[in-house]
Amino acid sequence: MLNISAIRNIDPKILVLGNYPVIQSILDFDYLSRKQSPSVLAIIASGKKFQKYFFGKQQILIPTYPDIKNLPDEYKKQINLCLNVLSNRRILSSTEETFMTLPNLTGGVIFAENVPEKHALEIEQLAKKYQKWIIGPASIGLLIPQHLKLGVIGGVDARQFLQSNLLQVGDIAVLSASGGMTGELMNVVAQSGRHLSFALSFGGDRFPVLTPKDAFLTAEADSQTSTIIYYGELGGYDEYEIIELLKNKKITKEVICYIGGAIATLFPQSPQFGHAKAMAKNDKETAQAKRKALKSAGAKVGETFNEFVELINQGKHEKIRLHIVSNLQNMMDKISQRKEPLITTTISADIDGQPTLLGQPLLDLAKNNSFANIVGSLFLGRKLLSKDTENFIDIVLKTTVDHGPYVSGAMNTIVTARAGKDLVSSLAAGLLTIGPRFGGATNEAANHWLTGVSNNIKPEDFVEQIAKQGKRIPGIGHRKYRVDHPDPRVKLLLDYTKSLTEKRFTEYALHIEKITTVKKGNLILNVDGTIACIMLDILSEKEKLTDEQLKQLVNAEFFNTLFVLSRSVGFIAHFLDQKRLDEGLFRLPEELVAKI
Ligand code: ACO
Ligand code: LMR
Repeated sequence: MLNISAIRNIDPKILVLGNYPVIQSILDFDYLSRKQSPSVLAIIASGKKFQKYFFGKQQILIPTYPDIKNLPDEYKKQINLCLNVLSNRRILSSTEETFMTLPNLTGGVIFAENVPEKHALEIEQLAKKYQKWIIGPASIGLLIPQHLKLGVIGGVDARQFLQSNLLQVGDIAVLSASGGMTGELMNVVAQSGRHLSFALSFGGDRFPVLTPKDAFLTAEADSQTSTIIYYGELGGYDEYEIIELLKNKKITKEVICYIGGAIATLFPQSPQFGHAKAMAKNDKETAQAKRKALKSAGAKVGETFNEFVELINQGKHEKIRLHIVSNLQNMMDKISQRKEPLITTTISADIDGQPTLLGQPLLDLAKNNSFANIVGSLFLGRKLLSKDTENFIDIVLKTTVDHGPYVSGAMNTIVTARAGKDLVSSLAAGLLTIGPRFGGATNEAANHWLTGVSNNIKPEDFVEQIAKQGKRIPGIGHRKYRVDHPDPRVKLLLDYTKSLTEKRFTEYALHIEKITTVKKGNLILNVDGTIACIMLDILSEKEKLTDEQLKQLVNAEFFNTLFVLSRSVGFIAHFLDQKRLDEGLFRLPEELVAKI
């Protein structure tokens, strides 16, 4: 059952299925209702990971997922409302998935028209089974002033909210099957100087999940509503159910209504009007018959639309609690002044002239956090959750800072420095050697460990698959180290798995090493492969990342970042060292070059 008072008591966290401009109108309504944050939490749509919108003048990014099952767990728990703007054929499956996947969902709105009637009936059964409420199909939504805009209801241009006084709380409930007439009546109420307690359109399809009867009972139960304004149409028997409620005193509030479609009686046979039900199959279903029956049950009924409007203007003017939303106009000005930014960042900004990182003043972050913590937080794009992550990042940065002048990167920097080049050129020359064989295998190693574990690929099969492709396993092998001469860094790094309860990626990589070292002694789990597997385990357990989120980090080459950052220190040291030594241009002795 739809309970308006209960909805007023929740903090709306909306999942929108489909990415449409209606989302911006909801955010504008939130902003003008002086909410601290947007009510749209996430979007289900293919393509981008974020959709750009505005909250007031500020551009925001709304996380976007290809399907509901990929929503992070914390989002699944927070979502309490849904707006489904997908096409009519996808409504049943997507609605059922929201019921099954979102434990705190209270209900939602279905916008699509012409949802197959069988599907609409199934949704009604599912709503009962999962105890959720659904408004629609074919609904423009539900609006509760200063609290919730769930759908295109109230319009998609923020100026309409002001024109219709939708930001001021009142005591009038507007109900209709027709979205257009719902909007029209919201304006009529505003022109009469009264304000809404809520408005909803239950949709013009033949089988709306929330029926007109349900909507009336919802309005009756809403303590903030004193008058119900209803626009009905010829066809069907919904109004006779409302008449029963009036007669049985189950509806005690003032009802002002109008039934459209009287013109149908001028035709030999009632024409089919726009909505599926809007055709009178007998006298009882005509607009005239319904008006008469409603009037006899105590409702105030307009014989013409003008009379209907007059009745609304005359309606009971009980004391209306008005929470005037002050300085609305300059909030509107902020909305009208906003410009599409040229770039988007979530990492840093200037807030009131203060440089900020991840929303925190830079100096606060610098004073209160280690370099490793700042590096990890900036690279993940949000504050680290665990000290264990910080400690592992710290040891990786320290152990990969250099590995002697012998390695390709150091050599390039040294040679470039001795050629008289500047710091950045010499550093860049070193960095350019980082790649699939030296220092840059970590990310691909992470990709392989993640794929192998997530897809339960047996290590033996994994090694064989790679060998068959004639490829090398990233993270395996070293030119200097071997089984009988292990890399001391690897042993030190593995010590950082002691804080882990689950080491599925590290165990997988070590199992691979067992197999490869049988083939050749130097095919050990090298420092790249070690960083990769431990980082996966730590991010999974300590930073609560899902395998899908880990995959997104692989796709962003996250796992190569620490080596690049840390080895830059080593390369710079070699550059400065060469400047001090000033040995002049390096030239390889000819005897050291094989002439074939
Ligand atoms: N997977 C499978 N087979 C391998 C691997 C591997 N990772 N590395 C070497 N082999 C095989 C080669 O295919 C070759 O086989 P063959 O004798 O049947 O032709 C044999 O071992 C010798 O190959 P080399 O390139 O001479 O071996 P080397 O020990 O010199 O290679 C290297 C060292 C470049 C690191 C290599 O192991 C490799 O490319 N590993 C994958 C990339 C990687 O992890 N790099 C990071 C190294 S650590 C760091 O840079 C910080
Ligand atoms: C490094 O850290 O640079 C090494 O593991 C690579 C190498 O060849 O020593």
